[in-house]
Amino acid sequence: MERFAYLYTYMPVHIRLVQMAFENWSDEEDGKADTLFSFDSVSVCCLGGGPGSEVVGLLRHLYHPLTTQRPVLSFAIHDREDLWSKTWRSVWMELCMSFRLTMTSTYCPLNLGDVAMESKRQLRRFDNFDFFTLVKFRSSGCTSEIVVRCLTYIFSQAKIGAYVLYIDTNFPIYNNSVRRILPKIKWVEVFHLSSKGPYIWR
Ligand SMILES: C[S@@+](CC[C@H](N)C(=O)[O-])C[C@H]1O[C@@H](n2cnc3c(N)ncnc32)[C@H](O)[C@@H]1O
Repeated sequence: MERFAYLYTYMPVHIRLVQMAFENWSDEEDGKADTLFSFDSVSVCCLGGGPGSEVVGLLRHLYHPLTTQRPVLSFAIHDREDLWSKTWRSVWMELCMSFRLTMTSTYCPLNLGDVAMESKRQLRRFDNFDFFTLVKFRSSGCTSEIVVRCLTYIFSQAKIGAYVLYIDTNFPIYNNSVRRILPKIKWVEVFHLSSKGPYIWR
């Protein structure tokens, strides 16, 4: 019931925020967003991806009649909550039935706030992703230093030229922590809408 309530109330808003981030980035940076999708294939890592709102938001952008780029996409949703994998499976099946999608998806259990995950985390590779998303993740109680360390580890492994899309409640406590992590490991802010985010880093 709770998961259904989330899908009903929050997911549409998060989907729209992600879609708007790409639209605004494209508008303000003269189509720069589209260079990312000009590759034949794009691999996306959603951190704290829950039921996959960011996946649907990205698809809404790419399947907009005015968007011409449609790479083969692969998504990896990372989340600590196992139950979301069931929800994501239903969303995914619905998407596959509604669109002819050329993409794959995996659901990876990962608790970014659990220090015991440290060793398992070391075994995981994050260097093959072209795009990372952090959508409404920090504000869901993820402000601990362990999370900061995990994110630093993940983003310092990322390949050169990858992007991070960050969208969250516009409070300094959340935004500042990401602004603290990324420049330290040489990521540069390439886009930021001054009012309510989003931030895009490269
Ligand atoms: C507000 S939801 C956002 C979900 C999705 N990104 C969206 O926009 O709909 C926050 C998500 O972060 C996940 N989460 C919270 N703490 C986490 C942690 N320590 N490690 C991994 N995921 C976590 C939750 O399970 C939840 O799915």
